[in-house]
Amino acid sequence: MKLNTLLISLGLFLTLSSSLSASTEGQRLFDEKCSTCHIKTKPTDFSTLIAPPAMGVVRHVKMNYDNKKDAVQFITEYTLNPQRDKAVCTPNTIDRFGLMPSQKDNVTEEELKKIAAWMYDNINLNRKSCNSKCNTNCNAKKAKKNTNTKNNTKASPFLITTRGMPHLTKMVKQNWDNKELRLTQEQKEKLLIVRKATMGAVMDLKPKVLKLEKKIKMLTMQGETPQNLYPMVEKLSKLKADATKVHIDCIHNTKNILTSAQIKILLQR
Ligand code: HEC
Repeated sequence: MKLNTLLISLGLFLTLSSSLSASTEGQRLFDEKCSTCHIKTKPTDFSTLIAPPAMGVVRHVKMNYDNKKDAVQFITEYTLNPQRDKAVCTPNTIDRFGLMPSQKDNVTEEELKKIAAWMYDNINLNRKSCNSKCNTNCNAKKAKKNTNTKNNTKASPFLITTRGMPHLTKMVKQNWDNKELRLTQEQKEKLLIVRKATMGAVMDLKPKVLKLEKKIKMLTMQGETPQNLYPMVEKLSKLKADATKVHIDCIHNTKNILTSAQIKILLQR
């Protein structure tokens, strides 16, 4: 009996310490081979980035692959052979940074598996620097805070910015792995399509709206004649109407994918 207990604890100890060393190994390899491009902390100056920060990468990977095995496999394959149509990040990211150069000569498949497993477990989606103790709990808090601060209403491309038009796709994303919500694989696949379409359209319209708003403000204050400004206002209203239609479509399509119980859970959060 005693021997049994001893053997079990020894086994447990060995398993624990070997998985622990695999994880520190993953971290060491990441620092050595990936962190020159993918920073591990929250960026303070976006203009100096040369690749998406690690937490952004992991967030997108997790949105597309909901279990560790598939995520590790994806990261491993993509890093050796990056391809635009396989990428999980937004097309904007690739436009901005260019495709990742293949890391074939920099890292082996074995090493990548360790790196990817470490990233999956330890790169925290909380925006501050990564810390393995801060788990999903933090993410939930952060997600809640994000919806509360309403910082997106300030620079909104939409016509309706008052309460009651929720950013459903964002809320879904923030609750992607929420146990209570229980999104099925099929729902996730459909939701990703809606999200991609919505984000693509909004990302296209938003900079145009903001630029035109700025221009109208500036010209107004500089004394431009109203007659010359009206067409710009018309154009602005058209852009905002388009964005609002995207918003409405997104709510409609997202609601169609979710059950009414799931919608209720989301809106309560
Ligand atoms: C020379 C800079 C550079 C290095 C080094 C680098 N990456 Fe990247 N990586 C990028 C850029 C740029 C992107 C964004 C474009 C893209 O997705 O291809 C990216 C994107 C990614 C993505 C997201 C792919 C997607 O679907 O959009 C993963 C995963 C990734 N890198 C993993 C790694 C890992 C793991 C390492 C270390 C072994 C690494 N990268 C090293 C530049 C780099």
